[in-house]
Amino acid sequence: MDKLVIEGGVALRGEVKISGAKNAALPIMTASLLAEGNSVFKNVPDLNDIETLGYLLEYLGAKVIRDGKNKTVEVDATNINRCDAPYEHVRKMRASVLVLGPLLARFGRAKVSLPGGCAIGARPIDQHLKGLGLMGAQITIEGGYVLAEAPKGLIGTEIVFDIPTVGGTENIMMAAVLARGRTTIVGAAREPEVEELARVLNKMGANINGAGTDIIVIEGVKTIHPTYHSIIPDRIEIGTYIAAVAATGGEIILKGGYLDLLEAVVAKMKEAGVRIESHEQGIIVKSDGKLNSVNIRTAPYPGFPTDMQAQFMAMMAIANGKSTIEETVFENRFMHVPELARMGAKIEIHGPCAVVTGVDKLKGAEVMATDLRASASLIIAALAAEGRSEIHRIYHLDRGYEKIEEKFSSLGANIWRMPDK
Ligand code: UD1
Repeated sequence: MDKLVIEGGVALRGEVKISGAKNAALPIMTASLLAEGNSVFKNVPDLNDIETLGYLLEYLGAKVIRDGKNKTVEVDATNINRCDAPYEHVRKMRASVLVLGPLLARFGRAKVSLPGGCAIGARPIDQHLKGLGLMGAQITIEGGYVLAEAPKGLIGTEIVFDIPTVGGTENIMMAAVLARGRTTIVGAAREPEVEELARVLNKMGANINGAGTDIIVIEGVKTIHPTYHSIIPDRIEIGTYIAAVAATGGEIILKGGYLDLLEAVVAKMKEAGVRIESHEQGIIVKSDGKLNSVNIRTAPYPGFPTDMQAQFMAMMAIANGKSTIEETVFENRFMHVPELARMGAKIEIHGPCAVVTGVDKLKGAEVMATDLRASASLIIAALAAEGRSEIHRIYHLDRGYEKIEEKFSSLGANIWRMPDK
């Protein structure tokens, strides 16, 4: 296992290329299971999560060609010969449950391991299963697996989600594409990645309207075909680099990024004193490193994303004054707090709220990454801190941030990856 070593206190300057969105690429890759033939996806980030999903699709019988250098993934789903996602795959990455909808739609059956909880919360999939059940699937749970069957095909219906779920919306949308009749999802998740999946499914011949709003209507079609698509930029990667330059000061250009993807984040960053503008090549971000304290409350899109909460907290740790950060999406997403405290941050947790009292400077320390976005928040804190930090357990980062230390190095940061004991 590797660790990251960071000598903090350097203002970031320069430009980085924003990668394609992991959370868009994953469901889009599973959507290719719906059609016979070869789909080609461009701007796919070269990440461990993409590799993990590639292995699962290969296990199912697909031919997968990953070209990390050219950011291309090809999936030929002509010869799918099994319909199960074993525990070892789903355990590594929860998004593996997104094979459920497409397999059930195309083959009338699927067996998928229950994902179980994870560090940030219980994360059930009851809404996915409720939706598929309403569409006529027989669902049983046995030995930690979901067995779903619809030998005569799925039937369109109205599904009202109890909470907006990104993965649930995606699974149902993919299942509904080949169902008989109309499926309406009420209370759908509105995230740009859901919209992107609908765009790709429509290119494949599906008939989906309303993605990006909370009511999505899918008219079932008989067959769909493979497609070619270039994935949208990663809005959480954009937000993470904005948070980093906000904390260290400096000026960076995020090439290929655009602001419409993260309006709530940009609004809060501006309130904190960061200057952000569209630029001919992407986004330009400037900060003098002096930040105002700002309260945030995470919420489903278009609210402030939970995937940016930890990074924003690292900024608030050195802001002027007190801020309240409320996490409403996941019940246990403050694991970065004790680690930030090791670097001198003053943060108290009261249930779903963290109260952050800004300090003048953080100090480098040894810390432990606990999940993907928590890892990013520790990097931001370490980049802004005085002295040397070591971040252990960084395998989480490799799941979701492409070449993060190379990108920060190119912005002038002193950051190295080293083998950990
Ligand atoms: C996706 C993102 C993840 C992000 C999250 C919320 C991917 C691959 N991952 O995860 O990075 O943090 O959205 O923006 O896109 N829930 C239920 N029952 C369900 C489904 C969800 O109770 O059947 C709850 C979850 O426990 C959570 C909330 O709903 O509290 C939102 O979860 P959801 O939107 O489904 O997140 P994911 O799709 O897993």
